[in-house]
Amino acid sequence: MDTNKILCLMPVIFLCLSLESYVSFGGDTISVNQSLSGNQTIVSAAGVFQLGFFTPRNSSNYYIAIWYKRVSQLTTIWVANREKPIRDIYSSVLKISDGNLVLFNESQVPIWSTNISSTNSTSVVAVLLDDGNLVLRDGPNSSTILLYLWQSFDHPAHNWIPGSKLSFNKRTNQSQRFTSWKSLDDPAPGLFSLELDPSETNQIIIVWNRSIQYWKSGSWDEQRESFSLVPEMTMLSSYNLSFSYFSNENESYFIYSFYNSSTITQNIMDVSGQIKVSTWLDDSKEWSLHYAQARKQCEVYAFCGAFGICNDKSIQFCNCLTGFEPTSQEDWNQQVYPGGCARKSKLECENAVGNGREDQFVENPRIGFPTNPQHATANNIMGCKLICLKNCSCSAYAYDNNNGCLIWTGDLFNLQQLGEDDDEVKTLHIRLAYSEFSSPTNKKKLIIVAVAVSSGLVLLGLTMFIIKRRWRTTIISTNPTENSLMAFGYKDLQKATNNFSETEKLGKGGFGSVFKGTFPDGSLIAVKKLEGINQGEKQFRTEVSIVGVIDHVNLIRLRGFCSEGSRKLLAYDYLPNGSLDKHLFHAKDSQVLDWKTRYQIALGAARGLAYLHDKCRDTIIHCDIKPENILLDADFCPKVADFRLAKLVGREFSRVLTTLRGTMGYLAPEWISGQAITPKADVYSYGMMLLEIVSGRRNFQVQHSEDEGTAFFPATVAIQVSTEGGDVLSLLDSRLNGNVNVEELSRICTVACWCIQDDEIQRPTMSQVVQILEGVLEVSQPPIPRFLQA
Ligand SMILES: *[C@@H]1O[C@H](CO)[C@@H](O)[C@H](O)[C@H]1NC(C)=O
Ligand SMILES: *[C@@H]1O[C@H](CO)[C@@H](O)[C@H](O)[C@H]1NC(C)=O
Ligand SMILES: *[C@@H]1O[C@H](CO)[C@@H](O)[C@H](O)[C@H]1NC(C)=O
Ligand SMILES: *[C@@H]1O[C@H](CO)[C@@H](O)[C@H](O)[C@H]1NC(C)=O
Ligand SMILES: *[C@@H]1O[C@H](CO)[C@@H](O)[C@H](O)[C@H]1NC(C)=O
Ligand SMILES: *[C@@H]1O[C@H](CO)[C@@H](O)[C@H](O)[C@H]1NC(C)=O
Ligand SMILES: *[C@@H]1O[C@H](CO)[C@@H](O)[C@H](O)[C@H]1NC(C)=O
Ligand SMILES: *[C@@H]1O[C@H](CO)[C@@H](O)[C@H](O)[C@H]1NC(C)=O
Ligand SMILES: *[C@@H]1O[C@H](CO)[C@@H](O)[C@H](O)[C@H]1NC(C)=O
Ligand SMILES: *[C@@H]1O[C@H](CO)[C@@H](O)[C@H](O)[C@H]1NC(C)=O
Ligand SMILES: *[C@@H]1O[C@H](CO)[C@@H](O)[C@H](O)[C@H]1NC(C)=O
Ligand SMILES: *[C@@H]1O[C@H](CO)[C@@H](O)[C@H](O)[C@H]1NC(C)=O
Repeated sequence: MDTNKILCLMPVIFLCLSLESYVSFGGDTISVNQSLSGNQTIVSAAGVFQLGFFTPRNSSNYYIAIWYKRVSQLTTIWVANREKPIRDIYSSVLKISDGNLVLFNESQVPIWSTNISSTNSTSVVAVLLDDGNLVLRDGPNSSTILLYLWQSFDHPAHNWIPGSKLSFNKRTNQSQRFTSWKSLDDPAPGLFSLELDPSETNQIIIVWNRSIQYWKSGSWDEQRESFSLVPEMTMLSSYNLSFSYFSNENESYFIYSFYNSSTITQNIMDVSGQIKVSTWLDDSKEWSLHYAQARKQCEVYAFCGAFGICNDKSIQFCNCLTGFEPTSQEDWNQQVYPGGCARKSKLECENAVGNGREDQFVENPRIGFPTNPQHATANNIMGCKLICLKNCSCSAYAYDNNNGCLIWTGDLFNLQQLGEDDDEVKTLHIRLAYSEFSSPTNKKKLIIVAVAVSSGLVLLGLTMFIIKRRWRTTIISTNPTENSLMAFGYKDLQKATNNFSETEKLGKGGFGSVFKGTFPDGSLIAVKKLEGINQGEKQFRTEVSIVGVIDHVNLIRLRGFCSEGSRKLLAYDYLPNGSLDKHLFHAKDSQVLDWKTRYQIALGAARGLAYLHDKCRDTIIHCDIKPENILLDADFCPKVADFRLAKLVGREFSRVLTTLRGTMGYLAPEWISGQAITPKADVYSYGMMLLEIVSGRRNFQVQHSEDEGTAFFPATVAIQVSTEGGDVLSLLDSRLNGNVNVEELSRICTVACWCIQDDEIQRPTMSQVVQILEGVLEVSQPPIPRFLQA
C-alpha cells in the first residue's frame, strides 16, 4: 500500500527551503529586555509555528518570518519586513522597544515596527500563538487578556492559513489583502492580490496591480456552502474544509477551518497569480497541491508581463513578442514571468522622420488583443498604420472591418496566443525599431538560412535513405520479437518529431509534452518527453520494463523509450482521435459523440482500470483519471493513458509539475486528508468522469437553471437517481436530442453516483463497475453523497 501511495503523490514546491536547524531561546514570547538575533527563534506553545530570521533560497537577504515548525520544507506563512531585508542576522535584532515589536538593522536603525501608538508599558510582550498569529499584548499573563494591541493576522502577507481572516473593513473601505511575492526569492509585495470585492463583500476576487480584477468567485451562497462561480466548492465539506462568511456593521470577512486541526493546509496567493490550496503530507514530506484558481495560467491577467504572450498549450507558458526579450532571464528560467519583456532595439520615432529610418510594424497573427485599445478613425489598414506611426507612444495597431482601427499606447499587457482552431483571425501589428528589420546581422542570418534550406533540400534525399537504413538496424537489433520494447536514440525521436516542433505537439500533461512522431516508413508514434526526471538509469529502465509488459486493449501500449543522460522519452502507439476531453467539451455540433460511442468509452475505460487494479502483478493505482487521460483510437476504442508515470519520473518533481494535475473535481476526499490511497480513489475519479460523459460538460462548469440559480452537476445527478421516478433524461447532453438508451443512461448515472460516495467502502470496485455496465450485475438506488446534500 505504501508504494502505491507514493505513486500518487503530487508534491508541490512553493516557497520552500529545507529546514535548517534553528535554536529556540525563549519559548513563545519576546518580552522587554529580550531580543532575538542570529539563529535564535521563538516557538508557539504546542510547537506548531516558529519565528525567526529566514532567507529565501538563492538570496542573501534575511527577513523575520513565521513558518511551520513541523513541515520539513521551510514554508513561511508570514513575513514582517517584506520590503526591507537585512543582510547580517547577527548584528540585527528584533526586540520590544517603546511598547512595540521593532526590527533594528545592522546599524541599529528601526526598519520595521508594529508601529502602534506608544502604550508606555514595560510589560508589553510579543507572543507567537499556535494558530500562527503573532500578537502584541500588555502583560505576560496571556490567555485572560483577549484584546491584542496588535496582531499579524491583521497584516496579511501571502499565505491565508486556517483561522486567519480575509476581511474588508467597512469603516475605512479597505480590504486586507493577501499579496503574492515578487518572485520566488523576493517576498516583497508582487502584482497579484487576493481580496474581498468592495462592492459585494461576499465575493472573493484576485486583482492585478491593485487595479484589474481577473478572477472572481461569485457571491457566497450560505446554504450550498459554495461560491456561485465555483460550484465544485460544495465538495469542500467532503474534504472536511469549512468556509464561513461573517458580516457586521464594521467588517465583512471569510474564514476557513479544517476539521482535523493537525492537518496542515494552506491557501497561498502564489507568484503565478493563482491561489493554490495544498495540504502537507507528513508521510512523504511533501506538499500536495489540490486546488488552484484561476484554473488556467493564462487567465491570470498579464501573467507574462509587458509584451509577453501567454500560451496555455506550451511547455513554457510565456514567450516574448518578436523583437523583445525577457527583462530578467533569471526570473524566466524560474518560471516567474510577470517582469515581462523589453525591446531589443529602442524605437527612434521622432528622430527618424524623413531619414528613411522610420519604425516598422511586424505582423503577429493569432494573438488575443491586449486590453484597453483606443479607437481611431481610419478607412483602411494603411490609414490605421499611419495614425499609429505618427503617434510616438503608439505601440501597436489592428484593423478589421468590424472594429475598424484600434491602437494601443505604452506597454502591452495580457497578450494571448490563440489556437489553430480559433475561429477569430486577429492580427496585431507591433511597432519595432527600423534596425530590427534592416540590421546587417539579420540579413546575414536570412541568407545563411536560405542557403541552409536549399542545400538541406538537396541533402534530404540522401539522409532519408541513410536514416531509413539506420532505423532498420535499430529496430532489428532491439526488437527481436513483436512485444519487446525498443530502445530509441534521442536523435531518431528528434527527427521523427521534427525536432519536437510546436506543429507536431499533441498536448501537454503533468509529466511533459507529447509530440506526434513520423518514422521514415510512415508509421506513427506518440512521443512523450518527460520533464523533471529524478530517477537513476537503472530504476528508470526497470520501471519502463514493468510498464512495457502491461498489455490490455484498453490501456495505451508503450512501444519504446529513450534514455540518454537526463533525456528521457517514452514512445507510445499514436491514437488518431486524441483525448476524450476534446470530443466531449470542444466538439463542433456535427461531431458530438453519440450515445453508443459514449457507452463503449465508459465501459472500455472501466475495463482498462479494472485490469490495472486487479490483473497486474502489483496493483496499479492510476491517480489521475480524467477525460484528458482517456485516448481514443481510430474506432473510438478508449485507451487509458499516463498510468505509473509518477513512478517513472521519480518522486522529486520540478516546478513545471506544480501546475495542477488533478483538479479538485476529480480527486477523492481521502486524497486531501493525507490518508492512504487505495484503488477506490480511481473509482471516485472515474465516477466524476462518467458524469461528464453523460452531460458533455465539465462538472465544475457553472450552469444556470431557472429556479435554482447555479447547480453543481454531480448534485443534480445524485438527486435524480436517488429519487423514485427521477428524470434521468434531463441529465443527458442536450446536443444528443434525447437519442439515448434510457436504461443505459439510468445505469451509468446510478453507478456514477455510487462511485462518488464519500466513504470509499461504499464505492464499487472497478470490476464491479464493469459488470454493472455490462448489465450482468444489478445495482440498487444510491444514497446522495454527504458532500452533495447541501
Ligand atoms: C547558532 O549560532 C551560534 C553562533 O552565534 C553557533 O555557535 C551555533 O552553532 C548556531 N547554531 C545552529 C544550530 O546553527
Ligand atoms: C529590563 O532591564 C532594566 C535595566 O537593565 C531593568 O531595570 C528592568 O527591570 C528590566 N525589565 C524586565 C522586565 O526584566
Ligand atoms: C541557485 O543558485 C545556484 C548557483 O548560484 C544555481 O545553480 C541554482 O540553479 C539556483 N537555484 C534556483 C532555484 O535558482
Ligand atoms: C539600516 O537602515 C537605514 C535606514 O533604512 C539605512 O540607511 C542603513 O544603511 C541600514 N544599515 C545597513 C547596514 O544596511
Ligand atoms: C509608523 O507609522 C507612521 C505613520 O503612521 C509612519 O510614518 C512610520 O514610517 C511608521 N514607522 C515604521 C517603522 O514603520
Ligand atoms: C513612560 O513612563 C516613564 C516612567 O514610568 C516616564 O518617565 C516616561 O516619560 C513615559 N513616557 C511616555 C511617552 O509617556
Ligand atoms: C502571571 O502568572 C504567573 C503564574 O501563572 C504568576 O506567578 C504571576 O504572578 C502572574 N503575573 C501577573 C502580573 O498576573
Ligand atoms: C465606502 O464606499 C461606499 C460605497 O462605495 C461609500 O458609500 C462610503 O462612503 C465609503 N466610505 C468611506 C469611509 O470611504
Ligand atoms: C501598477 O500601478 C502603478 C500605480 O498605478 C503604476 O505606477 C505601475 O506602473 C503599475 N505596474 C505595472 C507593472 O504596470
Ligand atoms: C463596531 O465598532 C464599534 C466601535 O469600535 C463598536 O462599538 C461595535 O461594538 C462594533 N460592532 C461589532 C458588531 O463588533
Ligand atoms: C488527525 O490527523 C492525524 C494525522 O493525520 C491523526 O493521527 C488524528 O487521529 C486525526 N484526528 C482526528 C480527530 O481525526
Ligand atoms: C471528516 O470528518 C469526519 C468526522 O466529522 C471523519 O469521520 C472523516 O474521516 C473526515 N473525512 C476526511 C476526508 O478527513
